[in-house]
Amino acid sequence: MKTGDMDRRQLLSLALAAAALPAAGEAVARKAQRAPMSLRYPLRLSANENPWGPGPQARAAIIAATDDACRYGLSLQAPLAQAIAAKEGVGREQIVIGSGSGELLHMLALGWCSRGEVVCPWPTFNQLMSFAEKLGAGIKKVPLDAAMKHDLPALAAATSPNTSLLYVCNPNNPTGTVIDGPALRAFCSEMAQRTLVVVDEAYLELVDEGMTSGMIDLVREGANVVVLRTFSKLHGLAGLRIGYALARPDVAARLRQHWMTSPSVLGLAAATASLGDTEFLTRTRAALIADRQRVTAACDELGLAYAPPQGNFVFLRPGMPVNDFREKMKAKQIEVGRSFEPLREWCRVSVGTTDETTVFIDALRAIVKG
Ligand SMILES: Cc1ncc(COP(=O)(O)O)c(C=O)c1O
Repeated sequence: MKTGDMDRRQLLSLALAAAALPAAGEAVARKAQRAPMSLRYPLRLSANENPWGPGPQARAAIIAATDDACRYGLSLQAPLAQAIAAKEGVGREQIVIGSGSGELLHMLALGWCSRGEVVCPWPTFNQLMSFAEKLGAGIKKVPLDAAMKHDLPALAAATSPNTSLLYVCNPNNPTGTVIDGPALRAFCSEMAQRTLVVVDEAYLELVDEGMTSGMIDLVREGANVVVLRTFSKLHGLAGLRIGYALARPDVAARLRQHWMTSPSVLGLAAATASLGDTEFLTRTRAALIADRQRVTAACDELGLAYAPPQGNFVFLRPGMPVNDFREKMKAKQIEVGRSFEPLREWCRVSVGTTDETTVFIDALRAIVKG
């Protein structure tokens, strides 16, 4: 987590980015206060969103940017890219902003995967692969190992001269597991000499200290690696659709050629403001991790297996067919995630607010004890 240690250059860059946003007056600041959190049913614990968001600074920026919603967001892209570049220590030309990292996954498929083969762990977040398949690429799915982690030797063995892209998801969705940082760095570094390596770090900001590390340093070193990040998770801005890629300048330029649409004014304004909202990000991260631990403690108490979670979700084995579990939760007005092929007995449950987590744990106890 880097939010606590910004240097002066980064702070200056954020200040410049914020100055480019429409001014937030007093009335705006008042409206930006979050109403007291209340439980809204059905509880949505199915889509890995972050219901703590948007943070106060993002809210103020959204309201202040309303007048500019008649404009395209072009002038707001550069300040956001600049702020991200300064925070991550890369050049601005190395940042590609997308309408969610989902758009960037599609852009990667368009740019690299119209032929050849995509290699990926399985199960994982399938957005790039499902689009690549429609474009004509083959997909080589490499099963997770017994600990539900990426099987790095098997992934390496699956690559061939026909591989157009290798996708890695750390932490992995849906399992929430992470790969040891030095092992992943060595793996990506070696694989990048064979093919484009995409490291999807959508949940990285929610990882416990020391469990893994981000791969942006490989981008800084000029490796053939694209790192993807999003404002949909820790920042709580999923509905505003902003994500970004970090890549070598030539890779970023090639990626940019496949832009599908320009990100929204409200999303860009919110993301830029949220980047500097250290207080909100720190507090939210702590709450999500604490509530994630409450869910795993409840699983321990009930004797349910789970994969060690490092995102804002827990992949657990409810001890009954997943469809039955989902129906029982639904009867209590709680939407939980689905199962993922081939792990048919496992269910992904997103971590909500503290009150939502309490409701979920009570429901879990009642259902499992039957
Ligand atoms: C691993 C992973 N990558 C990317 C995304 C896409 O996120 P977004 O398009 O909201 O940035 C998700 C969404 O759940 C995800 O789980």
